[in-house]
Amino acid sequence: MSDQTDQRNAPPATSSERTVARLVNATKRFGAGDAAVTALNDATIEFRKGEFTAVMGPSGSGKSTLMYCQSGLDRLTSGHAYIGDVDVSTLSDQELSVMRRSTLGFIFQSFHLVPALTSRENITLPVDLNADAEVDEAFLNELAVVLGIEHRLENLPSQLSGGQRQRVAVARAMIPRPEVIFADEPTGALDSKTSGELLAYLRTAVDDLGQTIVMVTHDAVAASHCDRVVYVQDGVLVDEGRNPTVDDVLGKIRELS
Ligand SMILES: Nc1ncnc2c1ncn2[C@@H]1O[C@H](COP(=O)(O)OP(=O)(O)O)[C@@H](O)[C@H]1O
Ligand SMILES: [Mg+2]
Repeated sequence: MSDQTDQRNAPPATSSERTVARLVNATKRFGAGDAAVTALNDATIEFRKGEFTAVMGPSGSGKSTLMYCQSGLDRLTSGHAYIGDVDVSTLSDQELSVMRRSTLGFIFQSFHLVPALTSRENITLPVDLNADAEVDEAFLNELAVVLGIEHRLENLPSQLSGGQRQRVAVARAMIPRPEVIFADEPTGALDSKTSGELLAYLRTAVDDLGQTIVMVTHDAVAASHCDRVVYVQDGVLVDEGRNPTVDDVLGKIRELS
């Protein structure tokens, strides 16, 4: 236990070795002229292997844009987004989608489930799309039980509650066992009990499977499950902390607002 804590507190031996995702001088502008919005403003940040990071900040501060650009779902206006050593801006759309399928998982704020597919079909979609992969049925069932959707696998999204849809979206992101998971407010539609169960599961994925998770959240309790919390304001990283407690996070949010 203390070993683990020490390891989490210690800076990495060489940062490049453990860095799995990195933004360098990242700027993202939307629109032009008077209507232009700078969502990311020369932001530099890195995410390390086997770390669970919370991204916090006011609404409109650029959190979703950070996740989208970091994972290659959107392209930066200037600067660089790396996954491992690969600058995602150098990849074609096809190369990007292959990399995303093999390495990354994304839990969207709006779930993005396919309405005509059942929960099970939605969950296995990323694996079904990959000719080289097969669905691990045992893992699917384990995920469904952990997430409490085992009796909803044959239902369509329209037959599910918001919280159940969110958990289907989580299972879909986890099933290919991606190295890095980007989760945009994954507990936003969940009650506190289900939220706690999901966070405990994400914690296990990091601790036992060595996955890396970057999670946007507004919830100080959710952030307290993380190894690190980063605070974003006006498109830049303004502060960060390690092993945050609920009080740390609440204090920092008050300070920044
Ligand atoms: N597709 C878009 N077109 C225009 N403006 C956008 C777009 N996406 C985000 N923005 C703007 O960029 C800023 C950051 O948005 P976002 O990254 O969604 O913030 P957050 O996730 O922190 O709430 C906001 O001002 C938002 O209105
Ligand atoms: Mg957002």
